Amino acid sequence: MWIAAELVGCDAAKRLERTRHERASLLSFVGEPLTRSVRPCMAKGNMRNAKEQEITFRRATVADSAAVARVHVQSWRESFKGIVPQSFLDKMSVQDRARAFRKRFHDDDYRMFIAETTKNTVIGFADSGKPRQIDRPYQAELYAIYLLRDFQRQGVGGKLFALGVESLVADGMNSMYVLTLEASPYKSFYEKMGGRVVDREAIMIGGLKYTELVYGWNSLS
Ligand SMILES: CC(C)(COP(=O)(O)OP(=O)(O)OC[C@H]1O[C@@H](n2cnc3c(N)ncnc32)[C@H](O)[C@@H]1OP(=O)(O)O)[C@@H](O)C(=O)NCCC(=O)NCCS
Repeated sequence: MWIAAELVGCDAAKRLERTRHERASLLSFVGEPLTRSVRPCMAKGNMRNAKEQEITFRRATVADSAAVARVHVQSWRESFKGIVPQSFLDKMSVQDRARAFRKRFHDDDYRMFIAETTKNTVIGFADSGKPRQIDRPYQAELYAIYLLRDFQRQGVGGKLFALGVESLVADGMNSMYVLTLEASPYKSFYEKMGGRVVDREAIMIGGLKYTELVYGWNSLS
């Protein structure tokens, strides 16, 4: 079964806050293709997509690890330039990331959803599973959610987030946390998705000290 969500402009593209009803309907289609057309939001300067592109969402398999690793590294380099040391970004390795993703796919409760163009080019992903920090009072952790810059701020991240949440809830996990850099301009995304800052911790990146915020969701359903 296919859902085609044709978006006709930037205002429509912004309509991504999920109602419970919408999220419940997404659940029925986890694992099946969902499509969404996106086009550049010129008002926000995202003009690099020459034409509207249709984006499909699906659950990822271990075979997607290399493509997802490329997105992860490219998104870091595009999104966090000037925020974390350039030497850290330069050293990021697609091969290392791919190896780490392949390993993760063997973990219990691990799941990843990807967004791709109709030419099967992966442009974004979100993965989640068991908490890595077992002392936190949450049943799941959102490990990462990354999009290539050209596809940001058009609702794709919101859709990936919703698919991940529905999948966790379906498997009996009703609370979640995520770690994100306090210096990140993207942290508002988690607030928009209903997360609240519940803690903060220090992290070293490229030899410099940063603060990570912990966003928590007490009830996902
Ligand atoms: C964070 C990310 C996954 C969000 O996905 P997205 O598709 O760009 O976000 P959406 O279009 O679904 O945005 C949903 C809402 O989140 C908020 N938001 C998203 N990006 C934002 C930004 N850069 N600044 C402020 N608010 C933002 C907005 O409220 C937005 O709604 P609006 O456009 O109606 O104002 C994506 O921008 C990304 O990959 N960023 C770089 C990597 C990153 O920071 N990942 C998270 C690291 S833990």
